Amino acid sequence: MLKKRIAIFASGSGSNAQKIMEHFKKHPDAEVAIVLSNNPNAYVLQRADNFEIPSHVFDRFEFYHTDDIADLLKKMEIDLIVLAGFLWLIPDNLLKTFPNKIINIHPALLPKYGGKGMYGDKVHIAILENGETESGITIHFVNENFDEGEIIHQARFRIEKGDDIEMLKFKGQQLEHLHYPRIIENLLKKMKSL
Ligand code: GRF
Repeated sequence: MLKKRIAIFASGSGSNAQKIMEHFKKHPDAEVAIVLSNNPNAYVLQRADNFEIPSHVFDRFEFYHTDDIADLLKKMEIDLIVLAGFLWLIPDNLLKTFPNKIINIHPALLPKYGGKGMYGDKVHIAILENGETESGITIHFVNENFDEGEIIHQARFRIEKGDDIEMLKFKGQQLEHLHYPRIIENLLKKMKSL
């Protein structure tokens, strides 16, 4: 049987991408086929290289005004698109070509602390400012709005007195690294076309 094929989109460091590439490196049923980025300097590209996984860098024009990326992913027979720290909104043509096959991870318990501009430190600053006693991560399907698609999985942690932004980031990242590869694997198992 052919392996299911994953495409990862990332704009930055790619620590989640790293965990996903590790998880599927010797997996019998699925593989990471390509890493895509809007940022030619993103460290995730180096990580992809280290795994000998091909990558593709694109600009705004290619992403929003051509069908090149959708065509490339179709040609590569990609089964699941995984956003891992990817900051641009997904255009309609990709959503239509891959319905219910694009997922994202967000460093908070959606629907709280999501939406346009809610990324990176800003999420954790808002959570601390509001005096929340817990936070967590959300893995969800992607639709035409930031952080709004159907929720697939959430995991939580307690915010202790004295926790700062770095601590929230650390706790969230531990959960992301633990859950994202496993949730991806479960989704691939459930997908009929796979
Ligand atoms: C993660 O916190 C994820 O929730 C968010 O972007 C961050 C990516 O981190 N969408 P990394 O590049 O995987 O380290």
